[in-house]
Order: sequence, then structure tokens, then C-alpha cells
Amino acid sequence: MLGNSFGRIFRITTCGESYGIGKGSGLAVIVDGVPPGLKITREVIQEELDKRRPGIGKINSPRKETDQCEIFAGIGQDGVTTGAPLGIIIYNVDTQKIHIDQYREYKDIFRPGHATYPFFLKYGEAQDWCGAGRASGRETVARVAGGAVAKFILKREGLEILAYTKECMGIKARDMKWEEIKKNYRKNEINCPDLEAAKKMEKRVLEIKEEGDTAGGIIELIIHNIPAGLGEPVFDKMSALLAHAICSIGAVKGIEFGAGFKVGNMKGSENNDQPYITKDGKIRFRTNNAGGLLGGITNGEDIVARVAVKPTPTISIEQTSINMKTMEEVKLKPITRRDPTLVGRIYAVIEAMAAITVLDALYLARAYDSLAKLDKKWMRLKENY
Ligand SMILES: Cc1cc2nc3c(=O)[nH]c(=O)nc-3n(C[C@H](O)[C@H](O)[C@H](O)COP(=O)(O)O)c2cc1C
Repeated sequence: MLGNSFGRIFRITTCGESYGIGKGSGLAVIVDGVPPGLKITREVIQEELDKRRPGIGKINSPRKETDQCEIFAGIGQDGVTTGAPLGIIIYNVDTQKIHIDQYREYKDIFRPGHATYPFFLKYGEAQDWCGAGRASGRETVARVAGGAVAKFILKREGLEILAYTKECMGIKARDMKWEEIKKNYRKNEINCPDLEAAKKMEKRVLEIKEEGDTAGGIIELIIHNIPAGLGEPVFDKMSALLAHAICSIGAVKGIEFGAGFKVGNMKGSENNDQPYITKDGKIRFRTNNAGGLLGGITNGEDIVARVAVKPTPTISIEQTSINMKTMEEVKLKPITRRDPTLVGRIYAVIEAMAAITVLDALYLARAYDSLAKLDKKWMRLKENY
């Protein structure tokens, strides 16, 4: 299997499966590019892991994973980072025989909406049939641990990253300012800061759950206080890097920045964000249709993106499928353990991947600027960077 690392200077490498083998199975992340002297404790990481943890509430998976992490490398005797790679592990603690047997029962059957079919094509019979292996949503726990480290470093730079449910099954959160979104962040299970819309969303998801079905949704991502000048003009545009990072998360089916797909029906005069000079001599924009990006480079406004999340593929409704071994059409029995919607957990993974991407871009931009020796008057434009 290829492609288990992400980032160039700040870089994560993950391993581990949803079930794994025997006692002691788990998921791990190695984080490269952590500066020395930082007080990154397991609590800092745990706080992020708790956001995506299953087994809490009605609209999340009943799988009882406590997702407790251990830092096993990169912290010295003084309790601070040494500058060496950080190693973090999260053990699987809810790998019950009853569920392993259930996976064994349909291990040759292509599960609709899951990665089973392409996994057969790539790994044959050796593919991990138990709990979807690397294609499992559980894989993302290691990303969230790595993202927690990135978030910690970005916070010191004044950057904040937050994602929330913007839309679910036709119910939309109203447009809100950063302050209100932040105030109402994680106030409900579905993580929608429009508290009225949240109630309606949760009610609708529970109705769908009763039908044995699952629901999709849209997550909005905001990267607040991001300095201008991050991202490279050609292949490594900030938008392209974020799309790579976020579309690498299972169940993500699309991403749009700023006005996004609406631009297809806008006039230039409506879409262009007009700049102005603030009282303290900075350049800002009156609107943010560009979602904080011009030419793929940050322009000093918040990055705003929306991410389409598909309904959880596991459903409790009988489906037709194929036994890949016998090449026969079969009926796939209902499967019960699942999230009725992924939106109440996936936001933590989106935040993590955004943090890793932005921190990596920040490292690169600063490295480049240290050699570019640009005239001070231009550097002033990206002052807090
Ligand atoms: C945090 C998270 C949790 C997930 N939980 C489940 C789950 O409980 N059941 C399920 O069928 N899929 C779950 N998924 C989705 C699958 O991982 C994903 O749909 C599958 O690998 C196929 O990939 P694709 O949807 O990108 O094609 C989860 C994904 C994420 C990111």
C-alpha cells in the first residue's frame, strides 16, 4: 500500500487498521517537523481525539472506542518536545468477537458504498476484511492526533481552525459571523452552531436512522486569521493542497471555496471582492467570494470552504451485491453498527487535515521568504506571518 504520508516539511505518516491483529492493535502517527521545546501533552491531543470519538450520543456510532492516546516518542525528560519526530498511538479497545464474526460472514461480499471492491482488485484475498482496514473511518483517528500537533503550533501563531455542520438533508444553518460560530461550536451532537437548525437536523437524522438508513451533509471549514502569502502559484496552490488533504478523507465527495459552485451563475461584478485599506494601513476585502484565496495564494481573509460528506455506506437495509469469490449475485443482510450520519464526527478530521496543510505551507513560505529577501514594503503586507 502506497501513500501513507502527507505534508512536505510538517509531515504525518500513519499506520494501523480498524481492528488489526490481536491484543495491542491500534493506529499510530509519526509527526515530522515538530519544533523543540513545546509542551505538547497527551491532553492536548486527547482534546482533539474526543471530538471524533464514536460511542457518544444518538447520532454517532455505538462502537465503544475510548480513543485514548499515548505519546511514545519525541518528548524528553522535561516533558517538552525534543525536536525529534513525535510518535502517538491509539489502541483499539472495542474489537469484539461478535463483530469480527459478522465481518467474516460477508468478507467475500462487495459492500455497496464501501471500498471493498477496489480493495479486492488491489490486494486480492489478502485484503483486510475486518472493519474495512485502512478504508475504515477509524483510520482517521491517527490524522486527528497528527492534526492536534499542527493545531497546537498554529495557535501560537494566532491561527484558528474550525469546522461545523452547515447543511444536512436539506436543512441549512443560517449564515453566521465567526464570533457566533465560535461561541456555538460543538454545542450539540451534530455540531451546528445555528442552534435552531441543529434541532431540526438531529430530528431528521434520527428519523432516517429509524428507517435503517443514513444521512449525508455539508461541513463548512473556516481557517481564521491566516496570513496572506501562503501557497505557491502553480501546482501547490493552497486551494489544491487543501483539496488534496480533505478529499483524502473517506466519505468526502467534494470541496468548494468561497462562493464555490455559485460562481457559475455570478457576474464578474458580483463575484470580484473589492479591496480597501483599513485604518491601520492593511489591505482587506469587502466580501469574501474568493474564500480567502487569489491565484491559489492566501489573501489575508479567512479561508472558507465547504465539504460534501456522503451518507454512511453501512445501512440496516437489505441490499443486492456480489460475492467476489463465487462471482454470484447475493443479498447483503442489514448491518447495524454504524453512524447514522458522519457529520457529527468528520469535522474533527477536516480540521486536522486543514491544520497539517496550513502549517506545512507556513513552514515553506517562511523558508522561501528567508532567502527571497523581498523589499520590506511588501513584507509588511503579510506582517503577522
Ligand atoms: C470519521 C469517519 C467515520 C466513519 N464511520 C463509518 C462507519 O461507521 N460506517 C461506514 O460504513 N463508513 C464510515 N465511514 C466512511 C467510510 O470510511 C468510507 O465511506 C469508505 O471508506 C469508502 O470511501 P468513499 O466514501 O470515500 O468512497 C467513516 C468515515 C469517517 C471519515
